[in-house]
Amino acid sequence: MKPHSTPPPFPENFAWGAATAAYQIEGAWNEDGKGPSVWDDMCHRGGKIKSDSNGDISCDHYHRWAEDVELMKAIGLGAYRLSLSWPRILPVGTGAINAAGLDFYDRLIDGLLAADIVPWVTLFHWDMPLALYHKGGWQSRESVEWFGEYTRVVAQKLGDRVKHWITLNEPPCFTGIGHLDGIQAPGDKLSFANFLRLSHHVLMAHGRAVQVLRDECSGEVLIGFAITGNARIPDTVTAENIEAAKSHMFRIRRKSQWNISWWMDPVYLGHYPADGLELFGGDLPEITEEDMKLISQPLDFMGYNGYTADRVVASPEGPVELKHKDGHAQGFLDWVRMEPDALYWVSRFFHDRYGDLPLVVTENGLPSIDWVSLDGRVHDPQRIDYTARYLQGIAKANREGYAISGYFHWSLMDNFEWAEGYHARFGLIHVDFQTQRRTLKDSAHWYRDIIEANGWNIAG
Ligand code: GAL
Repeated sequence: MKPHSTPPPFPENFAWGAATAAYQIEGAWNEDGKGPSVWDDMCHRGGKIKSDSNGDISCDHYHRWAEDVELMKAIGLGAYRLSLSWPRILPVGTGAINAAGLDFYDRLIDGLLAADIVPWVTLFHWDMPLALYHKGGWQSRESVEWFGEYTRVVAQKLGDRVKHWITLNEPPCFTGIGHLDGIQAPGDKLSFANFLRLSHHVLMAHGRAVQVLRDECSGEVLIGFAITGNARIPDTVTAENIEAAKSHMFRIRRKSQWNISWWMDPVYLGHYPADGLELFGGDLPEITEEDMKLISQPLDFMGYNGYTADRVVASPEGPVELKHKDGHAQGFLDWVRMEPDALYWVSRFFHDRYGDLPLVVTENGLPSIDWVSLDGRVHDPQRIDYTARYLQGIAKANREGYAISGYFHWSLMDNFEWAEGYHARFGLIHVDFQTQRRTLKDSAHWYRDIIEANGWNIAG
């Protein structure tokens, strides 16, 4: 429902943030009792990652976190989204706790709070303990309880201070790219039926984590789930094209992980979408009412990681997706295509389908090739322009009542970009991976000014 007076482009308590993930920045892959994850294993197997690189050292954030918090302060971040490494905390996934690993996050959270930066913690950003993978990983229904146990350990330690939680980052990626396509860890190519079963466990694990967080954390907590997927936006804004884009965004047309409603509907509506159930038919696992109750625990926001979008037009035969032409503005990785209104449309379509919860943009950013110039600075005008445009899309959504309550730029700093290695740089902070020297890019200085003005200088 739209309110009567126009809301501000960015509400007073808008979360101005940046995001990272444990495996992509921490390094210290085998230090202080940490166990190996599926990502350590995949990288060390060789032949799977560009230039055979890995996250062994990466940004060395494990040792340099205090310096990194100082840099966040220099940017004026109000919020920082980090993920926890499950095998750093529970080296084999369940059972014995690695106190040193848990203490690392304890110090980091205290450091952030002392710097007036609100921590938003993601429980799982893809680095499953290798030992659990060997016990069946997400394919085992026991993974629901493994994840619950891990969440309890974390919540008991950090739940007095951490109020913002994201259970899972991008389930379509770690389930699909990791277990169907074989491109990301653990690198499996399962049958579609096994993929569906595993995905069902993943959704149940999400639900279990929500229950545990609500149980263990003190005071009010805000919990969400971070999805990703191609946004569909009307090519030109007509009533027909809007309808076509929306139905195209949620319709299930093929057997793949890239069906946003397959993930969102169970979590936010309590059931799988009917078109998916029909298409997937014989590949479906057993799904009980109990399962669906667990999956659809009430949440506080909808997280969305926005990178890709396609334009759609209505036609008598149904929605038609238009291909981007060569030369369309894009990032160094070609799935990051500039469609700045994407966040506006996602918020609008999500609100239409899932109701009034605010959207939080849990990731958005541009991969590029940046370097330190002769003048000692890092000039990244494309990132500034890209971000400005996407923020304007957010402003528009808020003004029209499709609330977006936070923005986390991906990423705080250049880091290990999964199977792409270190080629693409997403950071507001440049990292020289040889010396570990950090340099604020022009975009970081620019973002500081935006944050300081609460976005009014960009809102138009
Ligand atoms: C997301 C992922 C991040 C980051 C980003 C840029 O899919 O959650 O970890 O890699 O893409 O590619």
